[in-house]
Amino acid sequence: MKIFSVFTAFSAILSCTAVVSAQSNPDPIGTIYDGHVPANLYGSSYPYPWPVKLFNFYNQRQKLTMAFMDIPARKHNKHKKTAVLLHGGNFCGVTWSDTARQLSAAGYRVILPDDIGFCKSSKPQGYSYNVQQQALNIHSLLTALGIDRATIIGHSMGGMIAARYGLMYPDNVQQLFLVNPLGLEDWVAKGVPYLSIDASYESGVVSNFTTLKAYEHANYFPNAPWKPEYDAWVHMLADIYAGDYGSEYSYVMALVTDTLLSQPVIYQLPLLQTRTYLLVGDSDVSALGKAWSSPDVAAKLGHYHELGPAAAAMIPNCKLHMFAGLGHAPFLQDPKAFYDARQELVKGYDKAKDILRQGSTEDSQEALKGVERGGWMMLADLEETETSLVAQADDVSEEWTPEDQMTLLLLMEEESRANIEKARSLLAPYSNSSQARSLRKKIDQADAEKKRYFQECRDTLLAGGRLEDVEEE
Ligand SMILES: *[C@@H]1O[C@H](CO)[C@@H](O)[C@H](O)[C@H]1NC(C)=O
Ligand SMILES: *[C@@H]1O[C@H](CO)[C@@H](O)[C@H](O)[C@H]1NC(C)=O
Repeated sequence: MKIFSVFTAFSAILSCTAVVSAQSNPDPIGTIYDGHVPANLYGSSYPYPWPVKLFNFYNQRQKLTMAFMDIPARKHNKHKKTAVLLHGGNFCGVTWSDTARQLSAAGYRVILPDDIGFCKSSKPQGYSYNVQQQALNIHSLLTALGIDRATIIGHSMGGMIAARYGLMYPDNVQQLFLVNPLGLEDWVAKGVPYLSIDASYESGVVSNFTTLKAYEHANYFPNAPWKPEYDAWVHMLADIYAGDYGSEYSYVMALVTDTLLSQPVIYQLPLLQTRTYLLVGDSDVSALGKAWSSPDVAAKLGHYHELGPAAAAMIPNCKLHMFAGLGHAPFLQDPKAFYDARQELVKGYDKAKDILRQGSTEDSQEALKGVERGGWMMLADLEETETSLVAQADDVSEEWTPEDQMTLLLLMEEESRANIEKARSLLAPYSNSSQARSLRKKIDQADAEKKRYFQECRDTLLAGGRLEDVEEE
């Protein structure tokens, strides 16, 4: 049989005071502390389900403490996989607990940090909270823990940090999951006026359970009933506002908001080389600055049902999953749907890698490298889209169950579709040259041929046949 391949085409413990330790020399690397920590840490007394550890380091000329949890894999895994879960601006590492349990059960060591400025971490008042700095802090933590490569999963603001992380440290990222990330639009370019840091602080410092809950219901879970289990996450936040670092925390939020507004990640998404999964609740309407924008401007912001697909089209190596009817935090609103989607997305990719690993020829090894690098075709490779990639399928075809074959088919369809879309969008700026016209025609032809081929494969499989029975044109 001949299955054409499309892979190449995508080719020291603080007391309760703010002083971290008595250490006087800057320590560029930092140290991990895993002794006793007080229940109330930097103004957060919310109970965490696993021991809280501290990463003490020196940064921007001051001593800082990042609180984190380090959950061992509950299942032995020879690949020593690690997942790092980055929380959103109105959340903490602990908000990811359910997801962390699932990942631990699946064989991942899970790291749950609280970003500097948030939750149980120190809250410096004179600090640049730029997104790259937050990504660098996470990278420092992982380095101190001896973790070289990890799956990075980020939600909301954490999604922005995760995307930056992927841009800054591509070699240290296994794969990225961006969950309703912020920064998929340029709020300021869309008309959000400047709000001074002082005004932002004033509006935030009065936050309490009632105001936070109202905000989250309107923005995070719109058009959906409030569930009692969301209360925990509002209490977690309200306690910090009401706690002994409430004012410092509010000021950090003002600094962070100011920074996020100036650093939308959307412009750099085309540079992201890591394998990326974008998971988006399509009813999400969250947007920074909406609260102080005119109704006209506010109406243009936070349309995740459009922002999701648009962002996915910009990321070279991306798979999108939209959750119909879910808001800003799909993993809280429908944990099962979130879990299933994640499993499903990864299965296809892992399966592809397994299939390629079994191939012994140079082609399959090349393809595997391509898949792992997340490389995409360039325009110049357009005519090579038919490169045989899984032609080694002959070697393993006997072992393939019908389910394996259907998986491969789905995978090929998915990659082919993304491939064609990518080719079309690459060509878009060159609208009128004769070369562009002829390339566009070729893309259309390739698209039609592939669709015919896939349809025949599907019909064959459903009729109990095998992929190798299908002749490619
Ligand atoms: C919460 O804050 C709002 C707005 O500042 C205020 O009107 C309300 O009384 C506060 N509620 C409580 C329970 O403190
Ligand atoms: C390209 O061609 C289209 C339709 O043929 C035309 O509407 C458009 O103005 C042209 N663009 C340029 C830059 O020439």
